[in-house]
Amino acid sequence: MADELELAFERTVQAEARIEPRDWMPDGYRKTLIRQIAQHAHSEIIGMQPEGNWISRAPSLRRKAILLAKVQDEAGHGLYLYSATETLGADRADLTDKLIEGRQKYSSIFNYPTLTFADVGVIGWLVDGAAICNQVPLCRTSYGPYARAMIRVCKEESFHQRQGYELLMTMMRGTQAQRDMVQDSVNRWWWPSLMMFGPPDSESSNTEQSMAWRIKRNTNDELRQKFVDMTVPQAEKLGVTLPDPLLKWNEERGHHDFGQPDWDEFWQVVKGNGVCNEQRLAHRRKAHEDGAWVREAAEAYAAKQVKEGVA
Ligand code: 3HC
Repeated sequence: MADELELAFERTVQAEARIEPRDWMPDGYRKTLIRQIAQHAHSEIIGMQPEGNWISRAPSLRRKAILLAKVQDEAGHGLYLYSATETLGADRADLTDKLIEGRQKYSSIFNYPTLTFADVGVIGWLVDGAAICNQVPLCRTSYGPYARAMIRVCKEESFHQRQGYELLMTMMRGTQAQRDMVQDSVNRWWWPSLMMFGPPDSESSNTEQSMAWRIKRNTNDELRQKFVDMTVPQAEKLGVTLPDPLLKWNEERGHHDFGQPDWDEFWQVVKGNGVCNEQRLAHRRKAHEDGAWVREAAEAYAAKQVKEGVA
């Protein structure tokens, strides 16, 4: 019987069909999906902090309204993704505890500080641009709920990327001080954006199995290359320089050659030693503690409903 179930699972994945919550799946498949989707969700929620810091300091009502909409979208992406983990049997409260206690990861990119308003534009352009490169292939991931969540998320990411790029285009048409502010921001966010795609394939412990299960549809290096190739012409149009002296078009490869991020820095940030790791987790922990009364009230109300037989 187990062999038949395994065979049916393999056939479904190989046929590019979707594995659904009620389908049999290998424990390892379930485990790595919970790992990846939970960390994706954590990234969306923590990712609200860097830009959220600028909502009250946006230079105009229009910029404030756009930034509010974007940060609210990220919250929604996180909730979609936590819901997708629950279809795998994960418990949202347990995942939140794991995040707060540092037992699960979130994207390294959100451990860098947002020092000027140009960072809001560069995050939209580069960070959400990298997210689009990474998330569009996930619309074809083998697990149904994750693939469907990604379809909705990617539509909103396009708005995120465009609003960032439009903000930067406006600043680049401004004063020299504004143009310098944009270039400074690009210099600080370029390499951390390349790190978002994960370590080099040679150091990726999960890619091979995730590709075999069609959870991941491309390797880390493939998506990093795609992002560089997509971003170089955008940088030229914007009039900024990407801070990589090795960046140049390679006609033979049909791609851009580029330098390597500082992988020691990457692993230090992943291990929790980045500039903002402590601040980001402390903020998330406080938000969770401050919300305890809401959870208690909702649970008490639900219990009362059950007791009165109305639920
Ligand atoms: N930050 C933190 N940890 C990272 C990381 C990063 N940028 N890249 C890799 N890691 C971790 C992995 O989680 C893994 O650790 P684990 O086994 O304990 O989970 C380890 O480093 C080795 O990396 P692998 O390449 O083997 O791990 P994966 O196969 O999971 O690949 C990934 C990493 C490419 C991030 C993949 O998990 C993925 O595609 N996840 C879905 C997309 C996602 O999470 N994006 C994060 C940003 S969310 C975002 O951009 C929101 C937008 O609105 C701005």
